[in-house]
Parts: sequence; C-alpha cells; structure tokens
Amino acid sequence: MSGLESFVTANRDRMLEELKALLRIPSISTDPAHDADCRRAAEWVGDHLRQLGCPTVEYLASATHPVVWAEGPPAPGRPTVLVYGHYDVQPPDPLDEWTSPPFEPTVRNGDIFARGATDDKGQTFAIIKAFEAVLAQGKPPVNVRFLIEGQEESGSQILFDLLAKEPQRVAADAVLVADTPYYLPGWPAVETGLRGLCYAEINVRTSRTDLHSGLYGGAAPNAHETLVQILAALKGTNGRIKIPGLYELVERPSKEIRDAWGKLPFNERRFMRDEVGAKALTGLTKYSVFERLWALPTFEIHGIKGGFTGEGAKTVIPAEATAKVSLRLVPKQTEKKVQRLLAKAVKAAAPKHADVTVKFIHGADPVVVDVVSRPIELLSQAFKEVEGRGVVPVRSGGSIPIVPELGKAGAPVILSGIGLPDDRLHAPNEKINLEQVWKGARVFGRFFQLMGEG
Ligand code: BES
Ligand code: MN
Ligand code: MN
Repeated sequence: MSGLESFVTANRDRMLEELKALLRIPSISTDPAHDADCRRAAEWVGDHLRQLGCPTVEYLASATHPVVWAEGPPAPGRPTVLVYGHYDVQPPDPLDEWTSPPFEPTVRNGDIFARGATDDKGQTFAIIKAFEAVLAQGKPPVNVRFLIEGQEESGSQILFDLLAKEPQRVAADAVLVADTPYYLPGWPAVETGLRGLCYAEINVRTSRTDLHSGLYGGAAPNAHETLVQILAALKGTNGRIKIPGLYELVERPSKEIRDAWGKLPFNERRFMRDEVGAKALTGLTKYSVFERLWALPTFEIHGIKGGFTGEGAKTVIPAEATAKVSLRLVPKQTEKKVQRLLAKAVKAAAPKHADVTVKFIHGADPVVVDVVSRPIELLSQAFKEVEGRGVVPVRSGGSIPIVPELGKAGAPVILSGIGLPDDRLHAPNEKINLEQVWKGARVFGRFFQLMGEG
C-alpha cells in the first residue's frame, strides 16, 4: 500500500466528519440571505488549509464571498500547481424532493447526500485532502496554491475583478480544476471544452395593473400570453433556436472528433431512461446526443413568474410576466455576442403595445482546452495507478465562467474531477460517492508527487 493510500485509509472517519461540516454550511451564493453562510464556508476552507500546513491564507476581494487564497509550504525549485474550486452552491429547492435535508449531510449506501456534495465542495475537498496526504509523507513535492471562490454559481464577478487587477495569481505550471465528473464509473475524464452561458430575465408588462378577466377580457392585452408568444418565437418545436445569427457562430466539430465521440461507450436508451428519466430525448435529433450536449447551443426556459398560481382560481388578466431563460454557448459564441442576438430577437418578437425588457444576469464564455500537455499526462498516469484507467478526453455541456482566465498566464488548465455522472448536481438529492472522494485524494496526491518529479 502506498503512503498516500494508507494515510487516506487511516484517516477516513475524521475526513468524513470534516466533509460533513463543510456540507452543513448553506453557502448559496445567488441568495443575499446567505451572505454570512458564504463567508463561513470561505473561513472553513481557509482555516482548514491553514491547519493542514499552508503558511499563507488570505481572504480576498469581498467581505461576503471572499476568494480564498492559500499557499502551501514552499518547495523551492519545484513546479507550481494552482488549484481552483468553489465553495458556493446552488439553491436546494424543491426541498420536498430531498430524501434527507440538503444541508444535513447523510450517508446512504456509500454516497453522501447534500447540496454541494459533488458541486463543488466534495471535489475540492478531495484535492485538499490529497495535499494533506502528500504533506504527511514529508517535504512538499510541489508548490501548491489554492484559489477557492464563492461565486461560481452566480457568475464569478468577484474573481474576474480580482484577476483583472492581479493576473499573476494564475501564474503556475498547471491549473487543476475538479469540478466536472468522470465519463462513467471507472472512467476518469479530462474535458476538452465547456459550453458558455448567457442567462437573462425577460420581463413583459401589458397594462398598468391586473384586470378582471370578465370585464376586460377580449379587449385587454395579457402579459402572460405575450410572454409565451415571445418565448415560442425563440425556439421551434423541432428544437431549432430561432434567434437570427445564432447558428452562424456554430463551428461543427471535425469528423475526427465526432468519430472519437462515437466510439465512447454510450447507451442512448439507458441515458434517456435512467439518467434523464424521460420518455424521449429532444432537440436537433439529426445530430448525435453528444453533439447536442457538447457542441450545439441551447435555449432553456428556467421558470415563469407572475399572474395567479395559488390555490383555487382567480379570474385575472396579469399585467406583468417574467421568464428566466438561458442559452448554452459553443466556441465562437461569446456571451457578449449572444446577449446582443437575444435582445434583438426578443424585441423583434414583442408586440408594440407591450413593454418588454431583457436583463442579463450572468454567464460565461465557452472554452476549448488543449489536453495535450505534460501535466495532463501525469494526471492520467495517477488515475491509471489508482483507478486502473487513464483519462478519456470528452467535452461537457456545463460552464465554469472563470476557466478562460485561469489559463491566461500560460499554464495548462486541467478540467478533471472525481464525481460520477449520476451525482445530480443542481438537482434534489445531490450526492458524491465516498469511494470517489477517497480515490480522488489518492489520485490528486499522486499527481502532486508526479509533478514534483517532473
Ligand atoms: N461544476 C459546474 C459546471 C459543470 C458541471 C461543467 C458538470 C461540466 C460538467 C458549475 O458549478 C456550474 O454549475 N456552472 C454553472 C455556471 C453558471 C451558473 C454561470 C452552470 O453550468 O450552470
Ligand atoms: Mn461547479
Ligand atoms: Mn454548479
């Protein structure tokens, strides 16, 4: 048994309690009511890094959602690895669909259930424990720096501002990001790209106040009707997005890449039934599922607000309606460009008599990552030693806003996590498999050692 493995095995129970303590903090960054919890989560991470041997720990750029910066003990002449992660989480609702409450971490069948279990507290925790295990073996093999932010789930503005002022923070020999899952159980992945995001709120007002639907219905405009007409104009029933100019910015992946995706083990029926839990897969069905998930843009309606949705019935013509929507973006579709296209398309679909506004909330540019680098070879070797298989290159449909900035000083950015595809991130009953966390601590620990050996 390697030193890392015996350390992780001997300390599992304690580490599990630590992970639970972190998961108990409801650090929901999008909700100002949880500002103090975000601060507490930052302090938990910072205190923890200090205790396990980081001589430098700083809280940067915000009182409520500080960026945690920590430096491990110096390893003169050795490479530097920058670790990025986030301690903030998505809102946990709908609460009644959780088997155990989202901020009362509970272990069932080897999985720990909590909001943030996989995204991204559990995965970041695995790297932190990896570093602890490495330090327990003796001198640090590499210089490790931690950049753990608290606003990833709401756009990372604080970290963008910090890095604009202090770009040298990302100077390193490799940037390690564990915020994406394995391809399959037993199949660690490295992402070759992420989609971007353009998140917006569309607001429609059609009259000064709500109106009696008997007295005015037939003559008065209805805000909800107008809103759904606008939304319907933005996407066809065939799944094609009807925002002019959007598809002109899509670059189809090469035949070589598509063929490689075609060789990945994938059972469409199982994906539909077990993972999606639906009776059909939709979208532009002439393209493969991977192309639809990884290389084509999307348009989603997240929620519609306004009018009457309470118990019983109320005969009212709503004066106002709001929809939260977003697009996922693929290479060349920058957030800024797509904001302009969406605003224009909404304007064009809106009747003159309605006051329609589009407010942009947050987003991310798409990224393409070069996965041919020495650090990725070393991480793959670490996975091979621990998991029996190296990393498989895949793309992913999700977004991590700060990733383009992390590579700006020239370090290869490695997107490779230890979650599993069924972790239910952003959904009820989010979990992470504990074996994955312990394996992750060994893999990332081995990666630090291998980086030190060069
Ligand atoms: N960790 C996810 C992103 C992710 C998950 C990428 C799985 C690839 C595979 C991240 O925390 C996330 O959820 N990002 C948001 C971005 C946003 C709110 C600006 C997203 O993708 O919705
Ligand atoms: Mn995440
Ligand atoms: Mn997330």
